Amino acid sequence: MIRVEGLDGRVAVVTGAARGIGQRIAEVLAGNGALVAALDLHKPEHEGILGIECDVSDEAAIAAAFDEVEAKLGVTSVLVLNAGIFPIMPFEQTSLELWERTLAINLTGAFLAARRAIPGMREQGYGRIVGIGSSAGKAGGARSVAAYAASKAGVMTLMKSIANEYAKDGITANALAPALIDTEMIANTRDLVSRIPVGRFGTTDEVAALVAFLCSAHAGYITGEVTDINGGFLID
Ligand SMILES: NC(=O)c1ccc[n+]([C@@H]2O[C@H](COP(=O)([O-])OP(=O)(O)OC[C@H]3O[C@@H](n4cnc5c(N)ncnc54)[C@H](O)[C@@H]3O)[C@@H](O)[C@H]2O)c1
Repeated sequence: MIRVEGLDGRVAVVTGAARGIGQRIAEVLAGNGALVAALDLHKPEHEGILGIECDVSDEAAIAAAFDEVEAKLGVTSVLVLNAGIFPIMPFEQTSLELWERTLAINLTGAFLAARRAIPGMREQGYGRIVGIGSSAGKAGGARSVAAYAASKAGVMTLMKSIANEYAKDGITANALAPALIDTEMIANTRDLVSRIPVGRFGTTDEVAALVAFLCSAHAGYITGEVTDINGGFLID
């Protein structure tokens, strides 16, 4: 596991952390001494991590989750916006319901959690926010994923807006643009491995290491950045 400085004793919230990339991020932040809360639709059960049931698209649920984090761990200074869904659907068959649900979870969920966490970060004069975007949010997606791609473009731009607005408060906001990380999410796109220049899928460990670095004391001069982690799948 990567070892970084500056996470010891800090309160970190990771959304969508019951499994996959979010779970590994939560574990790696905790392994570096952070007090971690893992939010997900079903209460995450990871050793040494506070699990909270929370639908990130529900404003009241986000408020309740952060209240619980504050009561049990303290004020959040690290926030990883990872919860997401990945519906594959031909554009003309994309219902308004599917479009709105995808945006509500992937983009509005990030907005709601960041808006709830930032006042505490401002008071501390310190914050680290990482939004999990996607290469699809840059290039549109290698499958029919218009709603997903639009939501991820939104997340990546939201991080830039927050970076601009809160740099003076000691808060950094960055995004990742991953592609083809080996989780259950890519069950229907595994054939794309033949198009990854490094010849394999990425691992949750590799993504978590990058997030931990961006959330560490080493990364105070990095803000408003979108970092690819894609094995060369999209070189732009
Ligand atoms: N795996 C990849 O190749 C890849 C590539 C680019 C981006 N991403 C992004 O990384 C993030 C994590 O993806 P993953 O691969 O670990 O997928 P995953 O499906 O394994 O994990 C996603 C998690 O988000 C949770 N979630 C879904 N809706 C939620 C909601 N409304 N409220 C709270 N939690 C919710 C799920 O329950 C699940 O635990 C997602 O945002 C995804 O879009 C993944």
